[in-house]
Amino acid sequence: MTHLAAAAKRIALMTLATLVCGTASAQHDRLGLEGATALDRGRNLFDWVWEPTTLPKAQGRADGLGPMFNARSCSECHHQGGSGGAGSNARNIDIVTARPADAGFTPFGGYAFSYSFRFVNGRFEYRFGNGADDAAGRAREEMTRRLDPALLAQVHEGFRQSPSVVLHKFSTDEAYRDYRRTVPGSHGDFVVDLSQRNTPSLFGTGAIDRIDDKILLNQAARQRLLGMGGRVARTADGRVGKFGWKGQKATLREFVEEAAAGELGLETPNKHQGADPRGPAAAAPGLDLGKDQIDAITAFVASLPRPVRVESESIRSGQRLFRELECSKCHVPNLGGVEGLYSDLLLHDMKPDVRESGQYQVFGTSIAVDPGADADSAARADEWRTPPLWGIRESAPYMHDGRSPGLEHAILEHGGEAEASARKFSRLGEAQRDQLIRFLKSL
Ligand code: HEC
Ligand code: HEC
Repeated sequence: MTHLAAAAKRIALMTLATLVCGTASAQHDRLGLEGATALDRGRNLFDWVWEPTTLPKAQGRADGLGPMFNARSCSECHHQGGSGGAGSNARNIDIVTARPADAGFTPFGGYAFSYSFRFVNGRFEYRFGNGADDAAGRAREEMTRRLDPALLAQVHEGFRQSPSVVLHKFSTDEAYRDYRRTVPGSHGDFVVDLSQRNTPSLFGTGAIDRIDDKILLNQAARQRLLGMGGRVARTADGRVGKFGWKGQKATLREFVEEAAAGELGLETPNKHQGADPRGPAAAAPGLDLGKDQIDAITAFVASLPRPVRVESESIRSGQRLFRELECSKCHVPNLGGVEGLYSDLLLHDMKPDVRESGQYQVFGTSIAVDPGADADSAARADEWRTPPLWGIRESAPYMHDGRSPGLEHAILEHGGEAEASARKFSRLGEAQRDQLIRFLKSL
């Protein structure tokens, strides 16, 4: 390359650098509070790739991404079919659950006993049943077992707050990577199991947020009359839970704020950034996101359009099968005026095949809540909220941990209350199975 050409190239590179920086700062201006609409600001924040100490410093000093995080942006996980969509298994959230070493697995997989936890006087109480419990009776064998939280905390500080905690994939501290490997597995008196949650699609969540609690309560009452066990999920403070695989959050805004704090490690007004499990939480230097910014992200998520149905003659027979197999008992087509949702938003007992952790927390994001009398109202290990089926054609893989690459597999994984439906499906001929799948893909 001649000297002149090299100089020209250098100038070109400098211009490019100016352009790139220019774009970044223009984007940052939009993240600042001037000008753009809340929706634009929300979209930018949803797609914003965070770095440690990345602006915007919402108020005062901020440290951006981390110290604990699972990804660098919301859309890194929620991306299929556009910002806000579902995510691949590579982005699953890891959850670790402590249990006594002798509450083992059966030879067929799954736990020998159903169990639930409550936090009583600073200790966890483990309650075991024979799995034959239902919402009405709860006539189950009980066995109480206490594990010392100080012992559990030697493995993960978060076990002081909850028997199930998020095991973050990353930390801004390099040494975390080696520590992380030591958490799952056997620890003498207790065992730490690893489970996962797959990223759901957020399209249409605004409509779910607007469904009145009464609709869910009525739905549960109706199911009780039909002899079904669907029940309303309750948060620790007794509200109706509508969001999350376990129905663990009451409102979209709360979920958004928790995701910012838990997934990205951003300090927010109501949630602390996720803390390092190797030690007590160090306070964040300031807010990473302010109230207006959480509002903006929520407005953006709520504005994501609901999936559009593809109507055609060829789905009629599949639609009929969906009713005949009683899929629609749980996957209710229209709920509270929300057409095409295909969910009752209630918890159902799916039995051991899909059983794992109960509710989980992100260490450090909030003060431990004593669920007290409401401990039984939060989802148990084998209960899951019926996921809406709208947009299902774009949200693979399926089920709470993304275990099913395709729809057929997902249906065959249904157990417990849905086992009869799944069995009927397995007896269909190939042509009829295809019809049902074609219908699902039209939702
Ligand atoms: C590491 C991947 C990941 C990142 C990053 C992430 N999410 Fe999620 N998101 C998930 C998973 C997994 C769930 C399901 C969690 C559960 O229910 O236990 C979820 C659930 C949600 C839900 C509830 C949806 C429903 O219908 O129940 C909302 C709302 C949400 N995320 C918003 C956000 C926002 C806003 C951000 C950015 C601040 C974000 N998420 C970042 C993986 C991610
Ligand atoms: C008793 C209630 C119930 C019945 C009946 C039922 N389901 Fe489900 N369905 C659920 C629950 C709960 C889940 C989530 C389970 C999990 O993630 O472990 C689910 C998950 C799914 C999924 C995966 C959704 C996703 O986003 O990952 C599909 C697809 C599905 N069901 C289709 C069907 C079909 C088709 C039928 C009829 C053959 C059916 N279901 C019957 C409750 C039910």
